[in-house]
Amino acid sequence: MNKILVTGASGQIGSELIPVLREKHGSDNVIASVHESHLLDEVDLTGPSVELDVTDKKQVEDIIESTQPDTIFHLASVLSALAEQDRQLAYKVNFEALYTILENSVKYGVDKVIIPSSIGAFGLDTPAVAPNDTLQRPNTIYGISKVLGELLGNYYYSMTGLDVRGVRLPGVLSWKVEPTAGTTDYAVAIFYGALISGKYVCYLRDDTKLPMMYMPDAVNSLILLSEADGSKLQHRADFNVAAISFTPAELATAITKRLPHFEMEYAIDPMRQAIADSWPDELIDDVAKTEWGWNHKYGLDEIVDDMIEKLSIKLQDKIG
Ligand SMILES: NC(=O)c1ccc[n+]([C@@H]2O[C@H](COP(=O)([O-])OP(=O)(O)OC[C@H]3O[C@@H](n4cnc5c(N)ncnc54)[C@H](O)[C@@H]3O)[C@@H](O)[C@H]2O)c1
Repeated sequence: MNKILVTGASGQIGSELIPVLREKHGSDNVIASVHESHLLDEVDLTGPSVELDVTDKKQVEDIIESTQPDTIFHLASVLSALAEQDRQLAYKVNFEALYTILENSVKYGVDKVIIPSSIGAFGLDTPAVAPNDTLQRPNTIYGISKVLGELLGNYYYSMTGLDVRGVRLPGVLSWKVEPTAGTTDYAVAIFYGALISGKYVCYLRDDTKLPMMYMPDAVNSLILLSEADGSKLQHRADFNVAAISFTPAELATAITKRLPHFEMEYAIDPMRQAIADSWPDELIDDVAKTEWGWNHKYGLDEIVDDMIEKLSIKLQDKIG
């Protein structure tokens, strides 16, 4: 039996990872921990949920000690755009709490900790088409925290045996929970604009090409890596995973093919544009393919079709 604790469970990824984990491992074996109690209703309540502020060291210790998880999916994080606006919060959540989670995992005999990294772990010195192992000098507080997560993950594995694993996720598109704190959020918000008002004002330049992925692929990458045969892994917490790359203009064109009245305007946000400009255009994920059989399923057309279908139902009261 595999008992799993998920932090940041009510977020964009957690809210979609939890139902899949519960289906695989049984509802009672997957504990969803959320930051604020009012969000408890938002996570799938078909199994146990607890309130957890990961910056509260005692709470983290109490929950790991009392729930005795075999695996922790540590998703609690402050994402790129919010982290630049509130460095202190980002430091507490992305740096200090990460250490608390890892130390308590060692102390209470957790087997595995899965920590998503990000394209944010790359920087201006990284090639535009980024290999798995390359220069990483991010110039954002979020990116620095992601490199720390990768390095600490590899360190804890070699020094303590705690099996820390992680994928560098591209921007993730999904329809269930709307992202609000990242740099790639436009790629989701654009669908809300297209369906509700027929318009969207994009904060990134039309030619800003970034790696992106649909949520089912992102969830699958986390689960596949968590289940991979450890003896075959040369890397641990630092795998590129890729699906597609596109620009805002290309996404707008794909939406216009389905919703011909859609119009896109641009009002560039210098902070998010600078973050996006420091990230690679594409990730090469050959290492993940070789070491644990990763492959994505969804391309741009499949994503756009599914987003429009699902959001049309979700937003039916708001669509005129
Ligand atoms: N969504 C993406 O496009 C994307 C891309 C690359 C990497 N990632 C990574 O995936 C992970 C999950 O991201 P997400 O998209 O679900 O983000 P999200 O912002 O939707 O969710 C983050 C979660 O962290 C929780 N959180 C924040 N502060 C907390 C605290 N003090 N204690 C406990 N919980 C706290 C929030 O309540 C939220 O549920 C993060 O590590 C993120 O860096 C996400």
